Amino acid sequence: MAKFVVTPWEVTGDVNYDKLVKDFGTTRISKQLLEKTKKHTGKLHLFLRRGLFFSHRDFDKILDDYEKGKKFFLYTGRGPSGKTHLGHLMPWIFAKHLQDKFKAEMYFQLTDDEKYLVKNLTLDQTIGFSYDNALDVIACGFDPKKTFIFLDTEYSKSLYKMAIRISKHITFSITKSVFGFQNSSNIGLIFFPAMQAAPCFFPSELKKKKMNCLIPAAIDQDPYWRGIARYVAPKLGYPKPAQIHNKFLPGLGESGKMSSSKPNTCIFTTDDPDIVKRKIWNAFTGGRGSKKEQMEKGGNPDICKIYQYLYYMFEEDDKKLKERYNNCKKGKILCGDCKIYLTNKINKFLKEHQKRRQKAKRQLDKFILRD
Ligand code: TRP
Repeated sequence: MAKFVVTPWEVTGDVNYDKLVKDFGTTRISKQLLEKTKKHTGKLHLFLRRGLFFSHRDFDKILDDYEKGKKFFLYTGRGPSGKTHLGHLMPWIFAKHLQDKFKAEMYFQLTDDEKYLVKNLTLDQTIGFSYDNALDVIACGFDPKKTFIFLDTEYSKSLYKMAIRISKHITFSITKSVFGFQNSSNIGLIFFPAMQAAPCFFPSELKKKKMNCLIPAAIDQDPYWRGIARYVAPKLGYPKPAQIHNKFLPGLGESGKMSSSKPNTCIFTTDDPDIVKRKIWNAFTGGRGSKKEQMEKGGNPDICKIYQYLYYMFEEDDKKLKERYNNCKKGKILCGDCKIYLTNKINKFLKEHQKRRQKAKRQLDKFILRD
């Protein structure tokens, strides 16, 4: 298996998810847990049916408590270091689904401080990206009455009070072992994990009662929960936050996840139809060298990015997806067919998303939390 790296600040290579589950000590989502979820959501969301949300901590407990009448809130976030791409949307789309099904409130953190500390960006830039990215969050369709979006630098009064209480229990040596900080790391970054853990608990303060928290997020964020939030929860008298983890949307190139640093293999939510068409046209497929060969020997959907995109997000219909898979293997369809099909699907999705994103500019005030 090729080398891969998954940390909160770096994800490279082809990720071995079994190894991650083992190394991080999370739990695979079992068939029983899916059945239990189904009782509340009806037909399972595509992300669950296809194993894209695949791992968790205490999601079963969240459901048990919910069945006993104890509600939970959702918490997720974004490090605003650039434009939003399709990969970022996965946990947000899923959070919106959970909000609908469980009538849950959602807290969304924009870590303008974190991205200022780790990237070569000014604070004005990370604040700017925060407001830009917030439009994509809103465009996912969250309920304005139940959704609270905040920037660390602007919602600092509430967050800071919680973060210092957390930080008192976290030694430098803990953060070194969880995040690999060095003596040369800046002290802002060493404190930052307390800021990211704070939203797990401050809704309990807002409501004056202990609230269960469920975090839908890509698995690279796990160190914050495992190493910091779940460790301090009992010390501060709050429930441990639960997580449900997703896999990374692949980039359009041969390997690696979708990443803004490789714009040609990455689809941004603001891309226009021609750009999408070009990017998809140049994507890595499992096709053969010629039409003749493809028809004789068949293609390889297992390594094909076009197929993966249909699998991850853009072919809702399980039957159609399977048919396409089989037809590819049998050489009955050519890569061009699939590329056109996917381009149309993505452009249709983006057209709607961009409309809602435009509308979101007028709705920002309804969503942004200030203190
Ligand atoms: N650190 C995350 C990032 O770089 C942003 C973030 C903050 C987040 N709070 C979160 C992500 C909670 C998921 C869940 O993208």
